[in-house]
Amino acid sequence: MDFDKLIMHRYSVRKFKDLPVEQEKLDLLLEAARNAPTAANRQPQRLFLVTRPEGLEKIDRCTPCRFGAPGVFLICYDRAQCWVRPFDGQDSGLVDASIVTTHIMYQAADLGLGTTWVMHFDPAATVKEFSLPETIVPAAMLIFGYPAADAAPADRHYQRHPREKILCRTL
Ligand SMILES: Cc1cc2nc3c(=O)[nH]c(=O)nc-3n(C[C@H](O)[C@H](O)[C@H](O)COP(=O)(O)O)c2cc1C
Repeated sequence: MDFDKLIMHRYSVRKFKDLPVEQEKLDLLLEAARNAPTAANRQPQRLFLVTRPEGLEKIDRCTPCRFGAPGVFLICYDRAQCWVRPFDGQDSGLVDASIVTTHIMYQAADLGLGTTWVMHFDPAATVKEFSLPETIVPAAMLIFGYPAADAAPADRHYQRHPREKILCRTL
């Protein structure tokens, strides 16, 4: 799909078919994650692909927002591998992981899959459930699967600010 159409077509899917996603599609999602740009190309993203029942149970102990999705990417970054801005010591991890998540989200939409980005998860519980090493920081969960036949955008999907509100100034 053309990218402008894909942007208008995508919405947060919160109702899924009970159908696994094919390995070829999972491979494409992983390629989208691998090819995302990262600061200084440090590639600190570290992903956990969760599709088995035991893994999904772990996810459910960390967030109320799986909405029955048959798959979840837990997108983390390794803070020991991030680029660090010299002026203030800010690392690139959350930005890098967010771009990776966005890449997967749009690749999924192009493959006919639905996703919802989930930030409403308990980071401490996630570290514990997935036995994350000390430097691995959970940044996002992206739930995914085939949208249910009656899946539909939430009202909020349509509530976008006008351009004048988000474009502060043209210089
Ligand atoms: C950073 C981020 C965090 C989000 N966290 C959650 C979440 O925890 N649970 C949820 O149901 N939706 C979550 N969403 C989805 C947003 O609510 C949704 O993108 C927004 O309302 C616009 O709707 P749309 O995606 O259908 O266009 C999140 C989206 C973003 C970008």
